[in-house]
Amino acid sequence: MRVLVVGASGLLGGNVTSVALGRGKTVTAVYHSEDPGFDCPSHQIDITASTAVDDLVTEVDPDAIINCAAMTDVDGCESDPEQAHAVNADGAEHVARAADSVDAALIHTSTDYVFDGEETAPYSENAEPDPSQVYGESKLTGERRVREVHSDPLIARLSFVYGRSLPDGSISGFPAWVLEKARKGDSIPLFTDQRVSPSYAKATAKTLLDLLEADQEGTFNVASRSCVTPSEFGELIVEEAGFADATLTESSMSDVDRDAERPQYTCLDTTAVEEALGRPQSTLEEDLADLL
Ligand SMILES: NC(=O)c1ccc[n+]([C@@H]2O[C@H](COP(=O)([O-])OP(=O)(O)OC[C@H]3O[C@@H](n4cnc5c(N)ncnc54)[C@H](OP(=O)(O)O)[C@@H]3O)[C@@H](O)[C@H]2O)c1
Repeated sequence: MRVLVVGASGLLGGNVTSVALGRGKTVTAVYHSEDPGFDCPSHQIDITASTAVDDLVTEVDPDAIINCAAMTDVDGCESDPEQAHAVNADGAEHVARAADSVDAALIHTSTDYVFDGEETAPYSENAEPDPSQVYGESKLTGERRVREVHSDPLIARLSFVYGRSLPDGSISGFPAWVLEKARKGDSIPLFTDQRVSPSYAKATAKTLLDLLEADQEGTFNVASRSCVTPSEFGELIVEEAGFADATLTESSMSDVDRDAERPQYTCLDTTAVEEALGRPQSTLEEDLADLL
């Protein structure tokens, strides 16, 4: 199977590339700024340029495209909404249209930030989206455009992505920040008033490839089974990494001045993906044991 991974230099895209190569797929890695250096052909592309996307997809003629490219800087999206929409909505549409034109299956990645965070129980795929910042709006527009131009896309909504950047292996995302502070002996302020279902990049990549191999389509939440505050997440990280004397302090989302509003509660219900694959998603504890 020929798989084109768009955004292969990102955290999730690197993990998807690695898992796909490990499963014997013929992978082409598509990066934006810097070639990640996987042992497979690679191409530079800016997905905001539709002709470049079309040309590449026609040349590679993949059986499947997994689009992990996005403008993920939530505050950066707030200050540059044009670029956020260019990448997360227009770029998503370009990739989906090109996939459809060569009859390639498509996995498009989206976010829990399509929700406003007003719920108190995990969001199902059918919950009504209502984003509260530019990032979520641009990703939701991207989802809608993808559904318009591709006949049977799979849209995977993730939450709080973390893991090892590949191929270099460095830890990325929230655990990297917590571990850096713990190493320095700094106190670590952690929110107690936000709840998320962290998506471990390696486990997420395996789930995405499983969904592709199972010919699934539609919208799926792809996250751990756990619904935690950053404070609980941080406690598990320092415990797993053996920083028994780390200084964790309680903090609130309102203590930090940021351009974009964050939803307070975006835990995701993983029942649908578990039923589709006939296996449970991993828990945060299992994922951290693997990571650390
Ligand atoms: N990070 C999270 O916490 C989170 C949470 C929920 C959902 N998600 C979703 O999960 C997916 C993967 O996110 P991630 O955490 O792996 O993000 P990431 O590490 O920031 O990677 C994003 C990738 O997109 C590429 N990219 C950005 N602009 C591009 C453009 N114009 N053309 C082509 N490529 C471009 C980046 O390349 P350059 O760096 O070279 O620009 C990078 O390789 C995204 O769909 C994201 O919206 C992420």
